[in-house]
Amino acid sequence: MTVGTNGRPVAAITGASSGFGAVYADRLAKEGNDLVIIARHEDKLKAVAEKLKEKYNVEIEIMVADLAVLSDIERVESRIKALPTLNYMINNAGFGGNRSFPDVDIDVETRMVMTHCLATMRLSHAALVPMKAKGKKKGAGFVINVSSIAGFLAGCGAADYCGTKAYLISFSKCLQCDVRKFGVRVQALCPGFANTGFHTSETMINSHIKETYPNFLWGSAEYIVDHSLRALRRPYRMGVVFIPKFFYKLVGYFGSSWLFAPLRTLFSGGCVR
Ligand SMILES: NC(=O)c1ccc[n+]([C@@H]2O[C@H](COP(=O)([O-])OP(=O)(O)OC[C@H]3O[C@@H](n4cnc5c(N)ncnc54)[C@H](OP(=O)(O)O)[C@@H]3O)[C@@H](O)[C@H]2O)c1
Repeated sequence: MTVGTNGRPVAAITGASSGFGAVYADRLAKEGNDLVIIARHEDKLKAVAEKLKEKYNVEIEIMVADLAVLSDIERVESRIKALPTLNYMINNAGFGGNRSFPDVDIDVETRMVMTHCLATMRLSHAALVPMKAKGKKKGAGFVINVSSIAGFLAGCGAADYCGTKAYLISFSKCLQCDVRKFGVRVQALCPGFANTGFHTSETMINSHIKETYPNFLWGSAEYIVDHSLRALRRPYRMGVVFIPKFFYKLVGYFGSSWLFAPLRTLFSGGCVR
């Protein structure tokens, strides 16, 4: 049976071919949601779908789409709008960069802005069509926008990564204000370092982040996703932004409070104000 026509709840997940996205797919399928999983690599999406169909006996639809291309985003939007039982929209697809802004390939940075910001903005808007149509005041659906602790920070070689992730934090907070009355809950997930394909992907080659930062700073995708889902469903939440791990909660505060501006400048060799 096709996803969205059998009355079962549906979760749409971008970047579901690996890392956090694949774990969200696992957890939400386990809970009985059918899935629409979206990414560029069909082979990886098929592998995720086959494994989860066998494990949880759910329906899974694959959408091969490059979310840095407007026509692909629009194709995904149309599909999402046509899912009356859409319960979760997880905007997770993304990638990093590690070049000083004057030296970046501006086309790659444009792809980052489109994947992180434009796709999230348009797919959130599309998801609200079926969620609003449920006509509920509570439990109409959930939107998770995967930001990063980088959204609170600033530093060399990350102008667009930090910038796009900061956009996702502000966007999610404002979105929550606008959709509360329709019973929709929004989360901006802001993880620190996690062991996924992120740090070895094409745009992060030669970043050496894995070798540079100590083990205690790294979390597993499973830990982060499980805590994200738990925080999203708490009856009383501590706001839209969710930062897994106490250490990173401090980093988030340290990175955004004016009180710590002199310390930030000191630690970053004078380059961050
Ligand atoms: N890992 C970390 O340390 C960390 C920390 C904070 C935040 N994050 C954020 O977490 C999110 C997920 O990353 P991850 O850590 O799970 O890394 P990952 O394992 O590399 O997964 C990234 C996912 O995004 C998809 N993707 C990338 N570009 C895409 C595009 N243009 N169109 C469609 N799909 C695209 C990839 O699939 P295809 O290649 O098949 O398209 C893949 O499924 C990202 O937004 C990242 O910024 C990661």
